Amino acid sequence: MRILRVEGGRRLCGQIRVGCAKNAVLPMLAASLLAGGPVRLSDAPDISDVEHMLEILRMLGCCAAREEGELRIDPSGLKEEALPDRLAKKLRSSIFLLGPMLGRLRRAVVTYPGGCDIGLRPIDLHLQGLRALGVRIDERNGQIVCDGRAMHGGTVHFDYPSVGATENVMMAAVLTPGRTVVHNAAREPEILDLQRFINAMGGNVQGAGTHTVVIDGVRRLQGVQYRAMPDRIVAGTLLEALAITGGEGAVLGVDAQDLTAVIAKLREMGCRIQESQDRIDLCAPSRLKAFAHLQTSPHPGFPTDMQAQTMALATVAEGSSVIMENVFENRFTHVPEFGRMGADILVSGRMAVVRGVPALHGARVTAHDLRGGAALVLAGLCARGETEVEGVALIDRGYACLEGQLAALGASIARVDVES
Ligand code: EPZ
Repeated sequence: MRILRVEGGRRLCGQIRVGCAKNAVLPMLAASLLAGGPVRLSDAPDISDVEHMLEILRMLGCCAAREEGELRIDPSGLKEEALPDRLAKKLRSSIFLLGPMLGRLRRAVVTYPGGCDIGLRPIDLHLQGLRALGVRIDERNGQIVCDGRAMHGGTVHFDYPSVGATENVMMAAVLTPGRTVVHNAAREPEILDLQRFINAMGGNVQGAGTHTVVIDGVRRLQGVQYRAMPDRIVAGTLLEALAITGGEGAVLGVDAQDLTAVIAKLREMGCRIQESQDRIDLCAPSRLKAFAHLQTSPHPGFPTDMQAQTMALATVAEGSSVIMENVFENRFTHVPEFGRMGADILVSGRMAVVRGVPALHGARVTAHDLRGGAALVLAGLCARGETEVEGVALIDRGYACLEGQLAALGASIARVDVES
């Protein structure tokens, strides 16, 4: 079995550059189905979620591969209207292939994507949005059959600003005649990047990044070469690796504007931070102070994808912290693992009360989801002794060689094979 072995106690220092964002590249791969020519995404992250999405595109009839450091997609061969079950279940975010498949083929069949460790992950908002565009949706035998032959521009009002549902409707509307308006749209930076990508192909999308997105259908999109935005969650994770070890350094290539909530929380914990458009510099105190309260919420609120990592910091901070996880219903699976390292955390529903302890001790722990896995590695960086993190494949879904990035900052960490 493959694990990450971390020797705690080293103060991290130095500079590290982040790559392109998983949560920008994945919807762009889906949107590539809409292109009338080849699409090339440069510097895309070498992570398993991207590989799985490429495999799905190939199974739908497209050419899709990583060549010479870029992803090359030729969607001209798209013929299959049914998402392959095995892979769709493996990659929950494949549900936003529905929109572009309907945009191109006017027909799509998917099975209900499974939930995952962080929650049920329903798709009611996706289906509500597509129905507003005139898509006929029949759900039978666990399959969702979408008929888009009568699609038209429409008005969507989301009860909750879902990232994936906003992206799905944007992509379904791009080649659909008429104007589509999405109210209470998600405002994550990755959605603004998707708008830039679609418009670079000749689409007409406005307002992404605000609560209201307007899409005017066009007849055709051309191919494009594009570089997605930097990964703000990987950047936040690396900043917190510096912080939890009392370190000092900079994360390069990221826009501080995309991490304002995380930066504010790290300042509250005693870190000195300098912000700019393409780097964030951080100098941490020898011991962090607890933040009083943290609530996760849709952007520009505190990102749920940084909750587990920030909890790791709270476990060794001076004082007690309260964390409310408002986005996903089961995103505390890392708590019992922190407990094995000596953390003092009480969970009640969506609330966790973390009482900082002077130090954690190394242990064998298990990642149950992508960001929880990264959080356990952060805890290992400051724990006394050795920590072994199982479930590396989950971390590899969203981090291209996390151990390499941390080692470059001075961490003692390695990927090793051990007896299971
Ligand atoms: C995206 O997931 C991200 N994934 C997630 O990142 C991220 O945590 C999430 O947005 C929130 O920021 C990608 O972009 C590939 P949502 P998504 O739809 O689109 C509920 C990571 O670690 N909901 O905004 O699935 C849902 O159950 C991953 O990189 C409905 O109720 O997020 C959840 O409670 C994890 N009905 C909440 O909304 C729906 O139809 C947020 O979901 C859709 C969602």
